[in-house]
Amino acid sequence: MELKLVSTTLTVFLLMISVTVTIADYIRPQPRETLQFSWKSNSPSYPQQVHISLAGEKHMRVSWITDDNSSPSVVEYGTSPGRYSSMAEGESTSYNYLFYTSGKIHHIVIGPLEHDTTYFYRCGRQGPEFQLKTPPAQFPVTFAVAGDLGQTGWTKSTLEHIDLCKYDVHLLPGDLSYADYMQHRWDTFGELVQPLASARPWMVTEGNHEKEYIPLLKDGFASYNARWKMPSEESGSTSNLYYSFEVSGVHIIMLGSYADYDKHSDQYNWLKADLLKVDRKKTPWLLVLLHVPWYNSNEAHQGEGDGMMQAMEPLLYAASVDLVLSGHVHAYERSNRVNNRRPDSCGPVHITIGDGGNREGLARRYKNPKPDWSVFREASFGHGELKIANATHAFWSWHRNDDDEPVRSDQVWITSLVNSECLAEKSHEFRKILMAP
Ligand SMILES: [Fe+2]
Repeated sequence: MELKLVSTTLTVFLLMISVTVTIADYIRPQPRETLQFSWKSNSPSYPQQVHISLAGEKHMRVSWITDDNSSPSVVEYGTSPGRYSSMAEGESTSYNYLFYTSGKIHHIVIGPLEHDTTYFYRCGRQGPEFQLKTPPAQFPVTFAVAGDLGQTGWTKSTLEHIDLCKYDVHLLPGDLSYADYMQHRWDTFGELVQPLASARPWMVTEGNHEKEYIPLLKDGFASYNARWKMPSEESGSTSNLYYSFEVSGVHIIMLGSYADYDKHSDQYNWLKADLLKVDRKKTPWLLVLLHVPWYNSNEAHQGEGDGMMQAMEPLLYAASVDLVLSGHVHAYERSNRVNNRRPDSCGPVHITIGDGGNREGLARRYKNPKPDWSVFREASFGHGELKIANATHAFWSWHRNDDDEPVRSDQVWITSLVNSECLAEKSHEFRKILMAP
């Protein structure tokens, strides 16, 4: 009897310890305030909001904004500081949105550029010198990934952590500025990301916060398309809302959750044509980014990706896509290889990473029990790093903003499908589905 009492007391004691440990484990922080930006008295032709993006093989697009309309759309660049051996001219645009008129938005394509090389450049023949590094020709290559960024104290923390990582290209699966119709917030977002986005290419796709549609007055994505011009023309797409690019042995498809995706749509037909062009000998890794996740066990945004998934998942499966990265849900989740809602070793790994730090806060509630395809899920701010080591192996890690320290909370080696039986087995199905009218 006495022994039983001692054993019960011990069990209760151990349970108390385990509960204490669980509670003390990690306390999720509240949303942080939107950052305040001070007004700067630069000359009207001073380049602002400088960012770069990949623009076809060995080329980069340099984008910036000036208040003054007469500022030239010219980039001078070279491999030594202050000595510009090359010069490129480009295009410019601007837009009106209700009572707001944008500055002159410059887009200049520079190149051909050497791989894995630092270039020094100047925009519009004035202002400070910027520095960029081109991605390597082959593996290893590293991508930083963070969606749903916004411009809060948490965004700043996420960007500081990304800056600590030695990465080659930033991938952003939608929801950039959270301007939400307030156009000056696009300008402050451009200013916030400039230190990183002027140094490494930022490849983005659109989220719902980019839409800014006003019935009868404004079509969607006016500001996004004017400011964040991506290589759609270079990849045979007729829309800035979906495109593809290749970098260091990786083919990356940026899909548009807010463009038509049914079987008769331009996006669907462009995706088929793009998948047919993929040469896995040249680009062993095949990645897809989109905003609204197809595999999501969070209570937030449940089922929003179902229509697009129904239309396009068979294409991605037939093409043996390795990894699908999405945002929208303000939390992190990683799946097993999955297809048609069931674990499938020939399907892609799906990762939701809409936790960059926007003002709306975290999506804390998950559906239970956890679906069998879901491996890891957590509602915290953070960013991901994808280090592709070679043609077959990549290391994925997710870094939580633990207060202001980056803490690696999830990590996994991912093997590409390039040498798998999946690719061989599906080759007939692939041709059939992609060649279908
Ligand atoms: Fe979103």
